[in-house]
Amino acid sequence: MKKILVIGSLNMDITLRMERAPEAGETLTADSLITSPGGKGANQAYAAGKLGGDVMMLGAVGQDAYGEELCHNLASVGVDISGIRKIAGVSTGTAVIFVEHTGENRIVLVSGANSMVDRAYIDEHMDKIRDCEIVMLQLEIPLDTVIYAAKRAKEMGKTVILDPAPAIPNISAELLSCVDYIKPNETELNMILTGKTDSLQFDEALEQVQKLGVKNVWVTLGSQGVFLKESGRDGELIPSVRVTAVDTTAAGDTFIAAAAVSLAKGKSPREAVSYGNRAAAITVTRPGAQKSMPNADEVSPV
Ligand code: ATP
Ligand code: RIB
Repeated sequence: MKKILVIGSLNMDITLRMERAPEAGETLTADSLITSPGGKGANQAYAAGKLGGDVMMLGAVGQDAYGEELCHNLASVGVDISGIRKIAGVSTGTAVIFVEHTGENRIVLVSGANSMVDRAYIDEHMDKIRDCEIVMLQLEIPLDTVIYAAKRAKEMGKTVILDPAPAIPNISAELLSCVDYIKPNETELNMILTGKTDSLQFDEALEQVQKLGVKNVWVTLGSQGVFLKESGRDGELIPSVRVTAVDTTAAGDTFIAAAAVSLAKGKSPREAVSYGNRAAAITVTRPGAQKSMPNADEVSPV
């Protein structure tokens, strides 16, 4: 099995479950508050580890209880955490998540230690990039670091998988030219190309992102599934599994991690998407980020 290296964020998620998020100037009472491990990078590493992948994570936490818990949780599913930096005098990243009764979520991030993952740290860990076959990146660490890591990984012939979330307007063409697989949802796809959420038609956006050098596109479409567009082939909707969603937090993280594990096992992009859909459909039926993710026995085989 190919080795996966995740370079990204670790956040402690503070989740408030409530009928609906408050409007400006409004005070509401939540049903519950739960603190649990999250962060797009850590979620993807955790999901891939729990599904049986050979995974290492690079990123940073503060020297605090949240940081300890996040690292411990990753290690509990076999993720190699030896490269994660523990920085004094800065807090571990935090996400405040409002989950409405519909299952929809809204997230406010405090970057903390994630903002200190810089080029120098990547340089210190170049051996880890050399040692893996698949590199997974997201946008909760500085963009400059993501571009730098993607370029180094590409130069070394690695497969680069990018989750362009949270979306950055007009993302750099330099970054996209290094990407083998990208996983935006529809609004993220538009935002990274045009700086707006709806200015391009779906087909135009797919064509544009591939012209910029991305080989394969996985557009996540919530309960509908994922639109797969491999370069040189017609696009295809791979439908999701029908379930009742209670919390969609980390559905995208589970999807991309499961798809990466499937690719690591030598499966095709289409099989990878199908496996990702099956894993993510389980995540949405449970509350929380990492604690909602399935193990390999729960997902029908790759
Ligand atoms: P994030 O989780 O960061 O918001 P995203 O916007 O990519 O990421 P979605 O498109 O909502 O996330 O979901 C990702 C994937 O999870 C979908 O493509 C699908 O495979 C699965 N999924 C999401 N919602 C449902 C649902 N209601 N029923 C079944 N599967 C779902
Ligand atoms: O993708 C879900 C994640 O986004 C949450 O765990 C939260 O930490 C935010 O970063």
